[in-house]
Amino acid sequence: MEGAIPIATNTRIAVVTGGNKGIGFEVCRQLASKGITVILTARNEKRGTAAVQELKDAGLHNVIFHQLDITDVPGIARLADFLKARFGMIDFLVNNGALGAVEYVEDPANIAATSEEKLRGMSKEEREVWMYSKVRETLPAAKEGIRTNYYGTKDVTEGLLPLLKAAPDGRILFVSSDFGLIGQLKDEQLKKELDDIDNLTEKKLDEMLTTYLKDFEAGALEARGWPTHFSAYRMGLVAMNAYSRIIARRHPELCINCANPGYIKTDMSVYTGTLTPAEGANNLLKVLLLPQGGPTGKYFDDGTEAPFV
Ligand SMILES: NC(=O)c1ccc[n+]([C@@H]2O[C@H](COP(=O)([O-])OP(=O)(O)OC[C@H]3O[C@@H](n4cnc5c(N)ncnc54)[C@H](OP(=O)(O)O)[C@@H]3O)[C@@H](O)[C@H]2O)c1
Repeated sequence: MEGAIPIATNTRIAVVTGGNKGIGFEVCRQLASKGITVILTARNEKRGTAAVQELKDAGLHNVIFHQLDITDVPGIARLADFLKARFGMIDFLVNNGALGAVEYVEDPANIAATSEEKLRGMSKEEREVWMYSKVRETLPAAKEGIRTNYYGTKDVTEGLLPLLKAAPDGRILFVSSDFGLIGQLKDEQLKKELDDIDNLTEKKLDEMLTTYLKDFEAGALEARGWPTHFSAYRMGLVAMNAYSRIIARRHPELCINCANPGYIKTDMSVYTGTLTPAEGANNLLKVLLLPQGGPTGKYFDDGTEAPFV
């Protein structure tokens, strides 16, 4: 599965989830361009190996493919075993792989071809409204989105933590969004609990998501103050952001942050974004590659520290 290419043993090692396309692919390209050895992971072997080949064709030979579906717990353990045997540790984990948690009414790649003209001159807010018109919020997509974006990301993080702790300066970057900020929730008590990081627990996050999905099923999202557009995507990110702060507190020896790449033209956003995937990846690398001893447990927007609220 992983390429049998000789990789220098003295470089830093980065694992990127969902590296086959979009922002994740550009993160792999930019890390590899800096001489960092990249483990490009993807849930689909064909798409992942094609992405690695594209980087090799561009002269980047320090990229290895390893299959990883972030919802596959035994698969996470297999990746950890591979990394342990091959490198003994990893320096960076970029939690990028995620779903829109909605049903797309048409393949976003098809819409991309015709959307450029329609979107010209639109503000960010207008583009978002147009994007909402291209998706349906359904319970199965919401459940799968939360299972992937929150629980899958959490499982990958837990599975690779020992390898990050074995590195001299282990770092985790959660690829996040302004869609994951606490301020978009309406329940004041919940908002307070999510921001009370000294007392917040994973159990509280589980309870929040269970209640949210029950309300989704009951058709009570708006009535109960939950977000209504890209609803489950937002809730998965709210939980992921909170989890990142919990583990940053638990592992002060690591550098663990969340970063919003910006509004990016990818399949997920139906190509409505204002920035390219390369620009988004650059915003993420600004945070991932901060000088040693920098902030941990923080949120960054376009490369600058910003509140979680
Ligand atoms: N686009 C934006 O405007 C924007 C803004 C803020 C944050 N983000 C974040 O940026 C990250 C990348 O999104 P993108 O915009 O680049 O979207 P994208 O082009 O749709 O890419 C998403 C990636 O995640 C992968 N993925 C989905 N489910 C997975 C699973 N179970 N296991 C492993 N990989 C999985 C996809 O693999 P497949 O190809 O197999 O589906 C794909 O490689 C996400 O975390 C997203 O939340 C995006």
